[in-house]
Formats: sequence, C-alpha cells, structure tokens
Amino acid sequence: MTNTEQLRTDALAAISASEHSAALEEQRVAWLGKKGRITEALKALGQAAPEERKALGAALNAVKDAIAEAIERRKAELSAAELEARLKTETLDMTLPSRAEAHGRIHPVTQVIDEITAIFAEWGFAVAEGPDIEDDDHNFTALNIPEAHPARQMHDTFYLAGGAVLRTHTSPVQIRTMRSGAPPFRVIAPGATYRCDSDQTHTPMFHQVEGFVIDRHIHMGHLKGCITEFLRAFFEMERVPVRFRPSFFPFTEPSAEVDIGCRRGRDEIVIGEGEGWLEVMGCGMVHANVLRNCGIDPDEWQGFAFGLGVERLAMLKYGIPDLRDFFESDARWLKHYGFSPLHIPTVYGGL
Ligand code: DAH
Repeated sequence: MTNTEQLRTDALAAISASEHSAALEEQRVAWLGKKGRITEALKALGQAAPEERKALGAALNAVKDAIAEAIERRKAELSAAELEARLKTETLDMTLPSRAEAHGRIHPVTQVIDEITAIFAEWGFAVAEGPDIEDDDHNFTALNIPEAHPARQMHDTFYLAGGAVLRTHTSPVQIRTMRSGAPPFRVIAPGATYRCDSDQTHTPMFHQVEGFVIDRHIHMGHLKGCITEFLRAFFEMERVPVRFRPSFFPFTEPSAEVDIGCRRGRDEIVIGEGEGWLEVMGCGMVHANVLRNCGIDPDEWQGFAFGLGVERLAMLKYGIPDLRDFFESDARWLKHYGFSPLHIPTVYGGL
C-alpha cells in the first residue's frame, strides 16, 4: 500500500512541477503511457498474491484516476497561462494611424469595360466572350469577308502558325453566339483585339466591345437610338456631340461610323469642344449573309451591330491624351488615371 501511495505522491508532484504542455505530456507518457509506471504496475498485478490482488488493483486504479485528473487540471492551468502570455505580447495599439489607402488601381480599360457593361446590362444585354486566338472562318469568312477580299488587308492581321489569327476585332463573337443559340439576341462582347499597327492612335493590342441585337423588325432607327442613348449614359451628358457617318463594313449593310465631337490638344482631349471629331465605333445593320452563315433566316430576323473602341472612349471620358500610355505599365500613370477598386460602376450608383 505504501508503495501505491508513494506512486501517487511522486506522480502528482511531477505533474504540478511541469511548466509547459510538452513537459506535461512527458509526464503523462511516463505514468500512464504504454510503458508507464502505473501501466506496468497494473500489468504486474498477476504476480501478486491472490488475497492481495483485489485491494492492490483497486488502489492502483484509484491512483491512475487521480493522475489522469491531475494531468487534465494541470493542462487547463497551463493553457490558460499560455494564452495569457500570448495576449500580453499581442497587444493592439489603438493609437496607431490607420492603414494607407490600397495602392492598387483599376486600369481605365477595365473601368470603362465595366461601365459599358453596366449600361447595357441595365437594358437586358447578356455578356458573351470569345477566344483571342481565332480561326479564319470566325474572324473573316463567316463575317462576309471572303478570301482575297481587300478588307482582309485593311485589318493588318497577326497570323499564327497553322492558319490561326489573333482576332482583329470582337465581331467573331457575333458568329460564335449566333451559331450556338437561337434568336432573338441582345448581347455585348468585350475583349482584347490585335492588329499589326502602332502609332499615336494605334497600339498592336487594344480593346473593343461588340454589341448586337437580332430580333424581328429591327431597323436603323433602333441602332441610332441605342447608340445615342448609350453615349449619353456613358458620358453622363445629355447633349453629346455625335455624328453618324456613312461607311463600309462587309458584315453590315448599310454601315456607319460614329464620331464624337471633341478638341484634341497635345496634352489634353476635351469632349464637346472645338472642331475635331474622334471616331469611336463602327456599326450597321447585320448583313443578310452573316445571318445566313449562322443559320438564321434574314427574312424573319434582322438586327444591328456595333463595335466600339474602349481606349478611345476612355480617352474621351477621362481626358487621357495619349493612347500608347495605356500599355506602358507606368505606375505613376496608373495612379493618376486609375480607379479605386472599391468603386464598382453601376448605372443607379453613377458610373
Ligand atoms: N469590327 C469592326 C472593326 O473592328 C467594327 C464594327 C463595325 C463592328 C461595324 C460591328 C459593326 O459590329 O457592325 O473595325
């Protein structure tokens, strides 16, 4: 009996002397583990004299319970102490100044695409996308631009191995969308486009938003109304100087180009002033051949389409004078012309 009591005394002393949870765990293993002293003592019960066995077993089990209980209690004490110590080192200084505004900025191209999308979404347009690497059929042939047509040269196409091209415009998304669904359609398709061309008003990569409406009885009046209303909403200006100029595109008939009246200085561009005009989009009534190429009967369905230049609209709205700066990745430029990531454009909230 004295022996068992000695075990209890030793164990409880060692447990309360454990200063951290790792040491406590060592004690648990030393007493109650597979090879622990209590476990060994219980295993040895078999060798005890039969008349002693029962009492000894009960005493050992009582010691075992006492040890387990002491370990739990010590564990709780230690973790409370450890938490207390951690809280002391992790104090929060409420007098520190708050964090500076995030440095990241939304690029004007992203912002303007979001603004355009917000306006057309309000009018029930869906958003579609197509691949940057296109095939000849979607980029040209299905859009009524046959091989050897001079319009192919107009596009300064980047050709890839195997006959693929970097899409020269977003119009191929018209084909993809019409072929994969059924009219009516009311869709916009924003994205990057590529042309082998570079000067003050052209970069080899730029962005367009394609738009098209296919329904019964759609006519040029719808086109003009839609685009004029869009420009008013986009520029947040009741009287935007807009000019529709007759033009030619193989995929529309009739076709027009849309210009915005503005003044262009060396370091500025101001909408609604001066004598100048900046072309911002092409548009027209979707050519019957294009509809046929998508399996749509042009006697039943008609529509209009447009393709607008995102950078051009961004320059006009935000007074950005040089197109090439858009893609220089100059952090100072982005800080000046970029937008707060917290401001998400909506029509009702103001673009
Ligand atoms: N795809 C033409 C371009 O990149 C722009 C365009 C003109 C798109 C007329 C259209 C359209 O949808 O109807 O120059």
